[in-house]
Amino acid sequence: MSEQTPAQPQAATENTQSQDGAEQPIRMRTIRSFVLRTGRMTEGQQLAMANVWPRMGLNVENGMLDLTQTFGRAAPVVLEIGFGMGDSLVEMAKAEPEKNYIGIEVHTPGVGRLLNNADEQGLGNIRVFEHDAIEVLDKCIPDGSLSTVQLFFPDPWHKKKHHKRRIVKAEFAQAMRKKLKVGGVFHMATDWENYAEHMMEVMSAAEGYQNAAGEGAYSPQPEWRPVTKFQKRGERLGHGVWDLMFERTE
Ligand SMILES: C[S@@+](CC[C@H](N)C(=O)[O-])C[C@H]1O[C@@H](n2cnc3c(N)ncnc32)[C@H](O)[C@@H]1O
Repeated sequence: MSEQTPAQPQAATENTQSQDGAEQPIRMRTIRSFVLRTGRMTEGQQLAMANVWPRMGLNVENGMLDLTQTFGRAAPVVLEIGFGMGDSLVEMAKAEPEKNYIGIEVHTPGVGRLLNNADEQGLGNIRVFEHDAIEVLDKCIPDGSLSTVQLFFPDPWHKKKHHKRRIVKAEFAQAMRKKLKVGGVFHMATDWENYAEHMMEVMSAAEGYQNAAGEGAYSPQPEWRPVTKFQKRGERLGHGVWDLMFERTE
């Protein structure tokens, strides 16, 4: 979850058929916002993956969700991209039982920890994907269905040559807008000033959004947003914190 030099190729492959019917790999130029690392799982996390996942886990292969069916009720849906170890997501889901929460994370120990904690707290309003959020949004989340998208302390990719890996870019802003309801909010936070400025530039130029704090202004951290693990780390390092909240207007 920390900044590192990408060790993997930046292209994914998939199979397709050539004219003679043989399977041919094609290369897709996908630049990912993460580097997948294997992390050690605690016993509790492993048990949660085995026992809680069947109840709270969602699989991309199952396609587009019917969110009312997924949660067994109709309620505002908050989706968090890259929840890390998930403690702040669990805290929010506990504090707002009237909302439904979907977390997406690629780091398996974090997914295990979130499942473990959500289960211990007896929360019925969280569902989880262990997958690339870009693909989940495209394949599983209905258009105009989300009341909030949360992106807290995304990997900042400090070095200029890695900026292309930053998840916030013009096309991402529009992909989020498509999934939000009109009036829904895309909420970002970062402890990296240069990324905050980049987010502000991208979001201010994005069609169909309005900055909730007024043009060019950062939002105060809402009292309902818990301090996340990476926020604490940033504060230890003397970083500032910037929240940005943009509402879908059309
Ligand atoms: C710097 S950490 C922040 C974690 C947490 N939000 C916090 O504030 O403590 C960024 C997280 O985003 C995850 N991530 C990055 N790109 C992602 C993607 N496309 N889909 C799902 N998770 C992603 C990483 O695995 C990592 O756990």
